Amino acid sequence: MEHNAAIEMRGITKRFGQVVANDSIDLTIRRGEILALLGENGSGKTTLMNMLSGIYQPDEGEIYKEGNRIYIHSPREAFEYGIGMIHQHYKLIEVFSAAENIILGLNEEKMDLKETGARVKEICSRYGFDVDPAKKVYDMSVSQKQTVEIIKVLYRGADVLILDEPTAVLTPQETQKLFRILRNMKDDGKAIVIITHKLHEVMEVSDKVAVLRKGRYIGTVNTAETNPQALTDMMVGHAVSLNIDRPKYDDPKKKLIVEGLTCIDDEGITKLDSVSFTAYTGEILGVAGISGSGQKELLEAITGLYPVKSGSVRFIDDSGKEIELVGKSPMKIRQTGVGMAFVPEDRLGMGLVGSMGMTGNMLLRSWKAGKGALIRRREPEALAGRILEELEVVTPGVDYPVRRLSGGNVQKVLVGREISSEPAVLMTAYAVRGLDINTSYTIYNLLTEQKMKGVAVIYVGEDLDVLLELADRIVVLCGGQVAGIADARTATKEEIGLMMTQFTAKEDGR
Ligand SMILES: Nc1ncnc2c1ncn2[C@@H]1O[C@H](COP(=O)(O)OP(=O)(O)OP(=O)(O)O)[C@@H](O)[C@H]1O
Ligand SMILES: [Mg+2]
Repeated sequence: MEHNAAIEMRGITKRFGQVVANDSIDLTIRRGEILALLGENGSGKTTLMNMLSGIYQPDEGEIYKEGNRIYIHSPREAFEYGIGMIHQHYKLIEVFSAAENIILGLNEEKMDLKETGARVKEICSRYGFDVDPAKKVYDMSVSQKQTVEIIKVLYRGADVLILDEPTAVLTPQETQKLFRILRNMKDDGKAIVIITHKLHEVMEVSDKVAVLRKGRYIGTVNTAETNPQALTDMMVGHAVSLNIDRPKYDDPKKKLIVEGLTCIDDEGITKLDSVSFTAYTGEILGVAGISGSGQKELLEAITGLYPVKSGSVRFIDDSGKEIELVGKSPMKIRQTGVGMAFVPEDRLGMGLVGSMGMTGNMLLRSWKAGKGALIRRREPEALAGRILEELEVVTPGVDYPVRRLSGGNVQKVLVGREISSEPAVLMTAYAVRGLDINTSYTIYNLLTEQKMKGVAVIYVGEDLDVLLELADRIVVLCGGQVAGIADARTATKEEIGLMMTQFTAKEDGR
């Protein structure tokens, strides 16, 4: 038994049919330490942790808690061993309060909510959470919901906490808050595992990094003795370049003119307030903003999916003719010959049909494009095969349901399909969310390739470092307004950050 080891996993193997998700993995998780678990999409991180959270049982191997062999058959048993996992998709009940959710399933429902509230408050002040036990979940932000999930786990007495990509949905500020809490928990002697694809977060918050590659355990290194490049090489198994090329396109032309675009939602709230900008061919136009600043509505309004109150969106065709898009449905826009492609945030809702394979999803797009039902299957099948090969999609086959693929592979299928439609305007929302670093760079390169083909690329992103490296210009949204348009070659992160909060700074008191 190693010193300080809270959990030891030895020789853990887990198979799903033919897939060996975990191949004889050894991993030690220590008290008073934050361990980052790193690996490409599909390398087996979630599977490995789910064997600690009681969701899966290993086919082979042993698990020890404080030196004693344990068998975890269910999430409830995991709790009994003091292991709690915060999954990516929260399992809270919307109509219940924070306190009600926290005691849910504990056979303590009849317990005094005041007493729970008091204990929740105690946990909060101990670790620095800030949550109102009486607040209903439906009134909470994503970050607050996550907080409730963490408190729920602590309330059950967990001393081993596993967080699966907790920062994927957080703003940079919320991430900082979470990291402060994790450090407090670590100082309190808890063992913490965090899964994240963001290497700067790994460098910032972890003490050690364990790396998986294709289901195998590669090794654990001290964070202080490594760097993002070395970690990437370990993860991928060979040297990877972490530079984004930003070539200049020779002959940019106006492609999309957005003018005074205003959108109001069902409840009368202004989502976009007189937004104006022009997107050029051969340009990646970045869109930055704290989440909920109108990014989603902007892309949806341009594609005809969100109702527009006033303003215009004009597409300029090759002959220089302006085509008004406002008031047209997505289908009508396509029929008008406007080549627009959209990679939405919700990949398996608005993007792909999860139950269908790659071929089916290709077929869907060509059908949507109005080519008619007569389309033969050969064409989509060939396209699916090409995307599989060129983007190195990991799937048992082109007819395997896409929802069973790992997040990164789903995104490759979607981006591949959209690019293959040879659009004039390509819009992406959070294109690399949840993707490993290597796949993210594949996507950046693909977008840059499109730009150099003369496509007008609109890239909504959350990582300012990437926006500043990838984009040519950056439109900064704040509260549904354009706070500014920056030259990405000269702007700094601080300038963009300031613009992002310019209209909200006052009410936030910051
Ligand atoms: N329930 C399941 N049924 C079949 N295959 C599965 C299942 N869960 C995971 N897999 C497969 O096991 C492998 C490891 O998946 P896992 O989700 O653990 O990867 P990951 O490292 O968490 O990836 P990501 O970074 O994309 O979240 C993948 O090939 C995946 O497709
Ligand atoms: Mg995962």
